Amino acid sequence: MKILAIESSCDETAAAVIVDHDGQAEIKSNIVSSQIDLHKSYGGVVPEVAARAHIESIIPVIDEALKASQTKLSDIDYLAVTYGPGLIGSLLVGVESAKAISAATGIPLLPLNHLEGHIYAAFSGGITNDEFRISNELGKEPEFPILTLMVSGGNTLLILMKDHLNYEVVGQTIDDAAGEAFDKGAKLLDLGYPGGPIISRLAAQGDATKYRLPIIDLTPNPTRDENGYLVNPEPSLDFSFSGLKTALLTIVKTQGPFTKKNIDNLCAAYQEAIVESLVQNSLRAVKKYQPQTFVLAGGVAANPLLREKLGQALKETSPKTSYLIPPISLCGDNAAMIGVAAYYRLANSKKPIANSQLVAVPNLKIV
Ligand code: KG4
Repeated sequence: MKILAIESSCDETAAAVIVDHDGQAEIKSNIVSSQIDLHKSYGGVVPEVAARAHIESIIPVIDEALKASQTKLSDIDYLAVTYGPGLIGSLLVGVESAKAISAATGIPLLPLNHLEGHIYAAFSGGITNDEFRISNELGKEPEFPILTLMVSGGNTLLILMKDHLNYEVVGQTIDDAAGEAFDKGAKLLDLGYPGGPIISRLAAQGDATKYRLPIIDLTPNPTRDENGYLVNPEPSLDFSFSGLKTALLTIVKTQGPFTKKNIDNLCAAYQEAIVESLVQNSLRAVKKYQPQTFVLAGGVAANPLLREKLGQALKETSPKTSYLIPPISLCGDNAAMIGVAAYYRLANSKKPIANSQLVAVPNLKIV
């Protein structure tokens, strides 16, 4: 079986070819054309600019993915495409291109949720880490239940899976996403875009204890029952990062200008506060749902401190839970993750839908 996967939900135009021989699947090619340079000067993704850039690069990127995998379009058995969530103009380019290829060739088309792709990137093989017992081979069955911390520029979610393609959101951000917090923090400090990689690089040289920033816990205050006894509410699994951003803004306004050392220290403290909140809620969710496997997914999963702290915390508190993280190359948006999710979808006999019915859904939920 050969799958050609296409992803264009935000600012990366991507195509990949996944090939399966007798139950052994392999990512044959994974081409990503990033638009970061186009959006840098605006400090964020400009939707109109992104859509136009996708139009220019989608066909060359698909061609390159086929060429790099030494596959002809006529050899492809399935097309897979991200149809949401994302920017409508960006999604439309991938969806309409996939529909056109499908209509012209008769290759069946499989619509995929972008978030599903991020989760399945963790089952894509390619990394081993004995310390954290990371083990994954494409095609090897992951153990359920699986709990995923999905952290990207647009989403921060805790997702429980009792089986393949069965998703329950058990925690989420009530305001900014974790990646957005990194990006906005970097903008406040005038460091550039995207903020996550810049902040994590500077933070590595900084001292997180030099600034105090809040770690937001949304657990409600205890109440009293009819006998006057304190009743502790269940710890919240939801996230909030907007207060942290305001705290950083206050420091910038009242304590700047900063030396290079102070910027490094601020980055370290800011990163620490985001990571701590993500780890704290993940551990609460692990305690509550007792997953066999914990997956860290999305662009922010590339953050070295988060990868390390979560692995360490899981090892200490829930040593029987396997910890899966995608290789760094598959944390950010890419089409291989969409192909891998399509592979599992087909293996679990979800049939492709008819070509003409597919529409892009910018606010698609994961269910
Ligand atoms: O998954 P992704 O490529 O796009 C979305 O679907 O949103 O994630 C992009 C986000 C950006 O906010 C970026 O700043 C963040 O991932 N990111 C990081 C790191 N690398 C990328 N955040 C923290 N540390 C990193 N090393």
